[in-house]
Amino acid sequence: MDAALPPNALAARRVLLIVSGGIAAYKAPDVVRRLRDAGAEVQVVMTPAAGAFITPLTLQAVSGREVRAELFDPAAEAAMGHIELARWADVILIAPATADFLARLRLGMANDLASAVCLASEAPILAAPAMNQQMWKHPATQDNLAALAARGVRFAGPGAGSQACGEVGPGRMLEATEICAATAALFERDLLSGVRVLLTAGPTREPIDPVRYISNHSSGKMGYAIATALREAGAIVTLVSGPTILPPPAGVTLVNVETARDMHEAVMARLPTDIFVATAAVADYRIDNAASNKIKRSDSALELKLVPNPDILKCVAASAAPPFTVGFAAETNDVERHARDKLERKAIDMVAANLVGGAGLGFNADDNELMVIWRDGSRLLPRAAKTRLARTLVDVIAERYAARAAR
Ligand code: C5P
Repeated sequence: MDAALPPNALAARRVLLIVSGGIAAYKAPDVVRRLRDAGAEVQVVMTPAAGAFITPLTLQAVSGREVRAELFDPAAEAAMGHIELARWADVILIAPATADFLARLRLGMANDLASAVCLASEAPILAAPAMNQQMWKHPATQDNLAALAARGVRFAGPGAGSQACGEVGPGRMLEATEICAATAALFERDLLSGVRVLLTAGPTREPIDPVRYISNHSSGKMGYAIATALREAGAIVTLVSGPTILPPPAGVTLVNVETARDMHEAVMARLPTDIFVATAAVADYRIDNAASNKIKRSDSALELKLVPNPDILKCVAASAAPPFTVGFAAETNDVERHARDKLERKAIDMVAANLVGGAGLGFNADDNELMVIWRDGSRLLPRAAKTRLARTLVDVIAERYAARAAR
């Protein structure tokens, strides 16, 4: 297999790449480059032995981040300590994974930065083994592999063929494209296979005249992250998006709109659907007397008459064959009460409420925290990066969607 991943297949994913000391380390820069081409952020951690095969400078140049190697480096630890590195990662990829590194991983050792990060992280681990065929076949290695697999460590490869040492057999590290495909596959799940999901995201723009508009600070990040998480869960996703600067999520049908009325029309034209998720920050009002030519500056007051926009979510919930509907609510206080009120008022199935005003949370931020509420229950999804939170939210949506279908 030689095909590159689609762009954005790993959008905003944080991959911590451990490069351990084997000759296959020469392939690591290609792995980094391809992960980044697929949209991932890559932080490289080298073992001390890896430095005998490849320089940190090469990996720094391709990853765009300072390469980490030392466990006891006060300057680097002050910037992002080993525990923060462990928390930062969405996935830990070990490529190449030498026999020695796998043995240390199995034992739970923490005698260098790379092994300490593995021990301190909850992120899934994917290892691409690379070693001499005799070392691969050795019962000690096979025993380590079995123990690691039983603990949930996943493996990509090794392949078989001629080796750098002149021998032929299993132990060759897979090619970069295959390793990247295996990394992307880690995020794939089977929760909503074949389920049709329609989503709205981003802000809307309400024109004042041909060059001016009213809008809001919504970045679309949460909606785009949910679209990706839904697609990874097997759903067939259509994303109706207001203007954002985000790259289109891979594997999702994207419909670009500007105004609330465009969004309303685009959504209604795509019904029926199985699930509808409204993350868009739809402008509540539009300008009734928008000018068809640019309004010229004058000294007199300018009055804009605002009229209400359609409530898209409410219209979808009231449609002929309503899907499972999920709305969002940005609240500053009494989150649960307001969210329950919204559930009733809009006759929807679920509300995901975020407490706006918290530092680094909500609009335009990378992190969020959600209180998810449905008729007879609720769940708090604690603060996390929007990409991770989106996956947890999709778990809850899939669970409640299945519960509704079972009724
Ligand atoms: O009523 P409120 O604007 O607080 O409700 C927010 C929820 O309703 C969000 O899910 C938002 O996407 C959706 N909404 C909508 N159409 C509107 C206003 C809000 O779909 N015109």
